[in-house]
Amino acid sequence: MNTVMTKAHEKVVEAQFGPRAKAYVESAVHAKGEDLAAIEASARAHRPERALDLGCGGGHVSYAMARHAGSVIASDLSRDMLAAVAATARDRKLTNIETVEAPAEHLPFKDATFDFLGCRYSAHHWRDFEGGLREARRVLKRQAPAIFVDAYAPGQALFDTHLQAIELLRDTSHVRDYTAAQWFSGLGRAGFAVQSSRTWRLRMDFPTWTARMRTPPDNIRAIHILQEAASAETRAHFSIEANGSFMLDVLMVEATAE
Ligand SMILES: C[S@@+](CC[C@H](N)C(=O)[O-])C[C@H]1O[C@@H](n2cnc3c(N)ncnc32)[C@H](O)[C@@H]1O
Repeated sequence: MNTVMTKAHEKVVEAQFGPRAKAYVESAVHAKGEDLAAIEASARAHRPERALDLGCGGGHVSYAMARHAGSVIASDLSRDMLAAVAATARDRKLTNIETVEAPAEHLPFKDATFDFLGCRYSAHHWRDFEGGLREARRVLKRQAPAIFVDAYAPGQALFDTHLQAIELLRDTSHVRDYTAAQWFSGLGRAGFAVQSSRTWRLRMDFPTWTARMRTPPDNIRAIHILQEAASAETRAHFSIEANGSFMLDVLMVEATAE
């Protein structure tokens, strides 16, 4: 019998992301994008005094906000990720970025500490999605802008199940890609007013997507098996290519704290 290691979800996340911190700083998918440009444009327009990058990963939202904010807190539960962000900020001479280790669901900040928030590609890892959104709202001042970006699940269960399955095989810290409807209702319940949203599709290059997470060979094989067995509709929805590359749906929501 195999030895089974048990650890809390947050430790699973840390174990997945810590050793990959450099890959996330360098990842082209994460380092650019129209969403990053939109976050930067919004920060430029609002000139926040204190901005929060929630689930900062490689820190790309922090770098985009830092040019227009008084100060930026880059927060994440991975210490290694935060060390990589601090080193990159130093290299780029972005002296107004500070790092704070914390889970999104329990932020060590007082109510109404921030006047701007960016949160990109992190919420699908959270143990408690709505708890994290409530914390995001709590630490924001009233009327502060908040921009959330994440992969989202198609409404149909047929496609949803395929997406969650390959996400989990690729990265065992994956919890759930939520639907756009779940995002809107969760944000509303947490005390945000949705101002606008947009969606687009990002091509996940299979070798790069799996290499970034160092997906084990058995899991890569299992993803290919699922892709090959998928229905014509599922293959068409995700535009699955011969090598496993596919299109991922992305949602960006611009909201304000009510
Ligand atoms: C894909 S990376 C984020 C990418 C980054 N925000 C960007 O724009 O490039 C996901 C990050 O979420 C962090 N994370 C996952 N669950 C978290 C939680 N509950 N609280 C805080 N950070 C979390 C991970 O440690 C990881 O660094």
